[in-house]
Amino acid sequence: MSLQPTREDKFSFGLWTIGWQARDAFGDASRPELDPIEAVHKLAELGAYGITFHDDDLVPFGSDAATRDGIIAGFKKALEETGIIVPMVTTNTFTHPLFKDGAFTSNDRSVRRYALRKILRQVDLAAELGAKTFVLWGGREGSEYDVAKDIYAALDRYREGLNLLAQYSEDKNYGLRFAIEPKPNEPRGDILLPTAGHAIAFTQELERPELFGINPEVGHEQMSNLNYTHAIAQALWHDKLFHIDLNGQHGPKFDQDLVFGHGDLLNAFSLVDLLENGSWGGGRGYDGPRHFDYKPSRTEDFEGVWDSAAANMRMYLLLKERAAEFRADPAVQEALAYSKVKDLSTPTLNPGETYADLLNDRSAWEDFDADAAGAQGYGFVKLHQLAIDHVVRAS
Ligand code: GCO
Ligand code: MN
Ligand code: MN
Repeated sequence: MSLQPTREDKFSFGLWTIGWQARDAFGDASRPELDPIEAVHKLAELGAYGITFHDDDLVPFGSDAATRDGIIAGFKKALEETGIIVPMVTTNTFTHPLFKDGAFTSNDRSVRRYALRKILRQVDLAAELGAKTFVLWGGREGSEYDVAKDIYAALDRYREGLNLLAQYSEDKNYGLRFAIEPKPNEPRGDILLPTAGHAIAFTQELERPELFGINPEVGHEQMSNLNYTHAIAQALWHDKLFHIDLNGQHGPKFDQDLVFGHGDLLNAFSLVDLLENGSWGGGRGYDGPRHFDYKPSRTEDFEGVWDSAAANMRMYLLLKERAAEFRADPAVQEALAYSKVKDLSTPTLNPGETYADLLNDRSAWEDFDADAAGAQGYGFVKLHQLAIDHVVRAS
């Protein structure tokens, strides 16, 4: 297996990731601006297949129509020259002070109406560039003060806005799918739809639920101390994994946006195994873009930016290689059988069995040796160690 990324690997990067100038709450930018055209060429050289962006990453907020047209034309030319595609786009509804209290859910109605216009304009550009997925990250949709936000009403307004987007995209035959990106906090004290589970539940309340899924980010689930692989497995199970944001995070703290696999390595391993190989019982994996939403650390110059971009893809390919070896290892197959991992795919009831049949089955209760079942070991530690042996290539 090659560790050299190719277009088939479907690696994509946000323009805001490699282009991040490393301005943070405590310090100024540590890098100059990155020209989007150069970003496209550099990503193509490194083996990525896609680039994604917020409206304002490409066209600065407030640009006039002629400037906007010129920038978009230049960007399209770079895409044509390199073959880089735009699988996803998104809208910035968080940087300008007007969005300080949110976009879809700002208490100010005129802000909500402006936000809808800004997002609809980006929906048009998504279609023009052939994007299939439209991401919605509501970083400012939330509150710091419980009494200052009516959460019922905020969810109503969120739903109203998302229904409008879907209606517009369908009326225009754009065929877009929308992916909500959950995050628990930062920049708001508390953000609405904070986890994958909240966001999936919310999609069920929309007029066209099938057009809405989620875009979970590694670090965002881990900021809530949740298991990201579990979140992805459940999203796949609901058929709601429309896009994915890969990066690294060390547990519950500020959003680190590290290189993929540079945080919880073992969770990254089980994630890549799931995405690539599906579940043990045959549940499907994921075939969409492998999108990196990371921030090159503030310590890095441009050489470090491109090294870290390459590191994301290398981490993914390394883990993909190790997952394939793990699955093919006879010792792993043996440990899996001992651990009864695949037995979980067997339905608990026999075909056609009713609760009456179950109640009549003496082996399930009267004759069942509960103490023996309680005394058995499952061998999970041995299986887990085999996984680690493959990750670090101890054998
Ligand atoms: C974050 C978020 C953002 C969003 C992006 C898409 O790190 O908090 O991931 O980077 O993904 O803005 O809208
Ligand atoms: Mn993040
Ligand atoms: Mn993200």
